[in-house]
Amino acid sequence: MRVVIAPSDQIASKAADIVCQQLQRKPDSVLGLATGSTPVALYRELISRYQQQQVSFARAASFNLDEYIGLSSEHPQSYRYFMQQQLFDHIDIAPEQTHVPDGMSEPLSSCQAYEQAIGAAGGIDLQILGIGHNGHIGFNEPGSSLSSHTRIKTLTPTTLEANRRFFRDDEFQPCLAITMGIATILQSRQVLLLASGEAKAEAVQRTVEGPLSAFTPASSLQMHEHAIVLIDEAAASQL
Ligand code: GLP
Repeated sequence: MRVVIAPSDQIASKAADIVCQQLQRKPDSVLGLATGSTPVALYRELISRYQQQQVSFARAASFNLDEYIGLSSEHPQSYRYFMQQQLFDHIDIAPEQTHVPDGMSEPLSSCQAYEQAIGAAGGIDLQILGIGHNGHIGFNEPGSSLSSHTRIKTLTPTTLEANRRFFRDDEFQPCLAITMGIATILQSRQVLLLASGEAKAEAVQRTVEGPLSAFTPASSLQMHEHAIVLIDEAAASQL
């Protein structure tokens, strides 16, 4: 695991450099993408580089980490909707090459189909990750099996609380999600975890220095040969 500490305002451009290098090396790369507030600046940077013709996604494919069960792709809080708004609608990636787990079909077969689709695409070349305050990656909550694949997870009260800010007071907030498993994430050829701000410092410390434990799912990245943890000074403050 390589830890890179950078000023907050450089995290997005450093992350974009890694994504663009990957696409230059292999234009038909399979990208693993994440939601949440952390990767938004990265997506903005990628859109800007695409507009300046510095990068093309025309031959790339993408697989998102997770999706809420019960939210359709048109629901503003669904992760499919988020990805369309934050990235896909603004770049040249082919719509049929973007994959987000389907939160509306029968979940068990949907999980299996997702895992198979990742395999059929040749596996993920570069997986982008954020991190939850409790150390989760995707929606792999503490206690998730380190050998897990795409499946249904129940969200913990802390995750529900952390993500409550995205939902209106009267809006239904799902407590179930489909998420790639920890083994699915570890099978990616390269992983880039992004974190900024002091609120993530403890989770980052447990990820980088803590024992490898299912209770800090992100600590599983210690086993990955090509994992980069790109964080700002506040997120690194407990290292
Ligand atoms: C959600 C997502 C995770 C993300 C986490 C942190 O729970 N499922 O993939 O890493 O939120 O989000 P944020 O970046 O907003 O702190």
